[in-house]
Amino acid sequence: QHRVTTATLMKMKQDGQKITALTAYDYPFAGMLAQAGIEIILVGDSLGMVVQGKENTLPVTMDEMIYHTAMVSRACAFSMVVGDMPFMSYQGSLDTAIENGGRFLKEAGASAVKLEGGTAVCSVITAMAKAGIPVQAHIGLTPQSVHQMGGFKVQRDEERLLKDARDVQAAGAFSVVLEGIPSPISAKITKELQIPTIGIGAGAECDGQLLVLHDMLGINDRFLPKFVKKYADLAGIAKQGLEKYIKEVKDGEFPSKEYEYK
Ligand code: KIV
Ligand code: NA
Repeated sequence: QHRVTTATLMKMKQDGQKITALTAYDYPFAGMLAQAGIEIILVGDSLGMVVQGKENTLPVTMDEMIYHTAMVSRACAFSMVVGDMPFMSYQGSLDTAIENGGRFLKEAGASAVKLEGGTAVCSVITAMAKAGIPVQAHIGLTPQSVHQMGGFKVQRDEERLLKDARDVQAAGAFSVVLEGIPSPISAKITKELQIPTIGIGAGAECDGQLLVLHDMLGINDRFLPKFVKKYADLAGIAKQGLEKYIKEVKDGEFPSKEYEYK
């Protein structure tokens, strides 16, 4: 099985084959995703919230992103690994953006990066693409702009979203994530663009679907937005195991003879 590339994704769109994407932040989960056949593994800066327990994604650093992306890359020869550019790693100068984007490929084994924004970040997308760094754009609800948006809100400005989508494609993005967008608008964007759209809270018409792993597997019990379907209850399974362990140790049942060295 060859690794998924930007060309694979483009062909999947042309053939009408849905693209599957999930986030992962470490080696064991990335291994499970790759073995299951997930095409895109996004090492999202959502790790600030789901792994580090922070309020939002703003505090996540480049070094933290590199650390997690390297763990994920080690686990998978199949999936495309996309590193998420953290807040303030690409909003300054183009040189800094290229340098930071390059680190995901040079140091962390990623084959692409993602960054938030539409028309406003097109010069960054073009500069990075010219430097040989494949860029996935991300429009709609962009969590790094939480303060500017006034909270995590569904984005409904159709004209602006269509322009953002067209502009990031023209700037050289190989794909675009559509987050928190009403389905009819995502459908329009998906139909119009040549590059694949990956939706999260953006309806069924996107070329692919993305969810935050820890949300869809029920790993932590944080508030889940309407668009998240919970495919497993790993927190529940873990709780059962932990309670059983505690009980058996307290009762002197564990370790029984079979777990002892003679
Ligand atoms: O950080 C992340 O996981 C993301 C997706 C939710 C789009 O950016
Ligand atoms: Na992100």
